[in-house]
Amino acid sequence: MKTLLLTGSQLATAAKLIQQGELVAFPTETVYGLGADATNVAAVKKVYQAKGRPSDNPLIVTVSKVSMVEKYVQPLSTDAKKLIDQFWPGSLTMIFKLKPNALSKTVTGGLTTAAFRFPNNQLTLDLITQAGVPIVGPSANTSGKPSPTTAQHVYHDLNGKIAAIVDDGPTTVGVESTVLDMSVDTPSILRPGAVTKEDIEAVIHRPVVDELHHVGMSQTPKAPGMKYKHYAPDAQVYIVDPDDDWQAVANWIAAHDQPVGVMAFDDVIKTINWPQNADVISIGTDAKTAAHDLFAELRDFDNHKQYKVVFAQGLKPTGIAEAYMNRLNKSAGQMHFKQL
Ligand code: TXA
Ligand code: MG
Repeated sequence: MKTLLLTGSQLATAAKLIQQGELVAFPTETVYGLGADATNVAAVKKVYQAKGRPSDNPLIVTVSKVSMVEKYVQPLSTDAKKLIDQFWPGSLTMIFKLKPNALSKTVTGGLTTAAFRFPNNQLTLDLITQAGVPIVGPSANTSGKPSPTTAQHVYHDLNGKIAAIVDDGPTTVGVESTVLDMSVDTPSILRPGAVTKEDIEAVIHRPVVDELHHVGMSQTPKAPGMKYKHYAPDAQVYIVDPDDDWQAVANWIAAHDQPVGVMAFDDVIKTINWPQNADVISIGTDAKTAAHDLFAELRDFDNHKQYKVVFAQGLKPTGIAEAYMNRLNKSAGQMHFKQL
């Protein structure tokens, strides 16, 4: 199969492919998604195949109208409506209880709930409206690889496996949406993203649970690099913690006869005298730019440079830095510079 690269003026082609049960990658403000008609079981099965995704991992359903959600779910609560008003279109995915047999098991992984997302990207909202059906939308990467933030990343992973990619340039947020479970008594964040716990609590005026703090992300698993390794580049990533000495990192690189990648803030980059074999790339100035750049830079170190070691700046996990650190921890398999 030849994968078509489509522009915004070719949405009709993309919508037709979706209606025909083909796979079309689409832009969102977070990362690119892999779209298929959520009401077509055969099409949804192809998504798992193309990504190499385990079939018990449920898919997000991407919509362009709130009525598309209401069609499948039990009546929305007042809080759900408030969150929809405040954050859609945007980077908050919400899990709702489904009406009986509203969506196929292939979409839900056999659960009685489903996750819904209303992305902030006009091309994709138009694509869904033109196709006339909600589309499943996992990230458009090979399972286990960093999520794609450009159409070129999607092409690299899925060329020949999907019908088309709608190119809308680089995404703005860079990490996947916040996943909030609204099907339980106390709303619970299953995956941190650009919409934070504080943002959500400010709208519904009651506490929200952050699952990550419950399962203890800080405890080191027995087999580092195994248990939590997702978003994984081929390079081994080491986190440089806020209390680490960057000069020690530079010294480590100088003592090793191989090119080594570094991802750090501008102010860190400026203060250190880097050895020749350090390939230093900026993640900008703050957590927002860091989240935006993370996946693209990890891919760059793999695809163009084939580095074995990359050092990445760790941040205190508050606000969007929590989403950044969640993905960075997984990329690094919990490995830190201190462990070297
Ligand atoms: O930003 C995003 O959310 C991107 C863009 C493309 O929209 N999509 C995305 O999808 O990241 P995916 O499939 O890679 O991640 C969805 C996450 C998975 O971790 C999945 O296990 C979880 O949401 N999920 C989906 N449905 C669920 C459900 N009913 N209950 C619990 N978790 C669910
Ligand atoms: Mg994903």
